[in-house]
Amino acid sequence: MQLSLLFLSSLVAASPLTSVEKRQAATLCEQYGYWSGNGYEVNNNNWGRDAATGGSQCTYVDNSSGSGVSWHATWQWSGGEDNVKSYPYGGKQVARGQKISAISTMETSVSWSYSDTNIRANVAYDVFTAADPDHVNSSGDHELMIWLGRFGNVYPIGSSTGTVNVAGRTWELFVGYNGAMKVYSYVAASPINSYSANVKEFFNHMESAQGFPASEQHLIVFQMGTEPFTGGETTFTVDNFSANIS
Ligand SMILES: *[C@@H]1O[C@H](CO)[C@@H](O)[C@H](O)[C@H]1NC(C)=O
Ligand SMILES: *[C@@H]1O[C@H](CO)[C@@H](O)[C@H](O)[C@H]1NC(C)=O
Ligand SMILES: *[C@@H]1O[C@H](CO)[C@@H](O)[C@H](O)[C@H]1NC(C)=O
Repeated sequence: MQLSLLFLSSLVAASPLTSVEKRQAATLCEQYGYWSGNGYEVNNNNWGRDAATGGSQCTYVDNSSGSGVSWHATWQWSGGEDNVKSYPYGGKQVARGQKISAISTMETSVSWSYSDTNIRANVAYDVFTAADPDHVNSSGDHELMIWLGRFGNVYPIGSSTGTVNVAGRTWELFVGYNGAMKVYSYVAASPINSYSANVKEFFNHMESAQGFPASEQHLIVFQMGTEPFTGGETTFTVDNFSANIS
């Protein structure tokens, strides 16, 4: 009796500490291991892992507050050379029903690094839009990618339309289709490890240069992460990702 009471009181004493730890960090090793908090979300997102002949990936949420999230992912993938295996990402949770034309700013900043860059992978923002405000969040009618890093011989979807200047930097813009989804990829010539911008400027460019229908398209997801093809083991670390959409 005394023993079980002691056991019970130590459990009670331990539980507040455990819940504090859970709010501050998470370990995600399931295929779609998911965490959200403070208006942000993190997903291990091994969506393409069936194309690999070997490998694994886990994503760890390190810290979060209302002004950002820090996280890292460790991965190793082999086989399926030209297939993306996953997209571990940090995202800003967005209110549904917002038309791109009605959003005035999409301010964001991120600082990131890779422990070993002898890999085939990109580092990119991924933003889906759709005419249907309730579209599933794994695709859209249109996809904006901003490639801040490109390691190894990996290529965006579509073909190059040449270099463009958007939000104060030069990018090579690729445009093409992933099934029915139109994909616009703005690719930096060399890695940008510390980046901040108003992503609305990319949509303004897509509208004027590519006919993107901003008044018909709703924001579906706003994410930043990395797409591994092959390589590793390596660790992708995001010291701080933040986004404010209004
Ligand atoms: C972690 O979160 C705390 C509390 O919000 C904050 O003071 C600290 O700067 C954060 N650190 C990092 C590395 O994000
Ligand atoms: C993360 O970035 C945001 C936007 O720049 C900033 O307000 C916030 O203080 C940063 N957080 C940390 C922990 O550095
Ligand atoms: C996708 O959106 C649904 C709501 O439509 C939400 O319940 C779910 O958590 C989201 N999943 C991810 C991985 O973002």
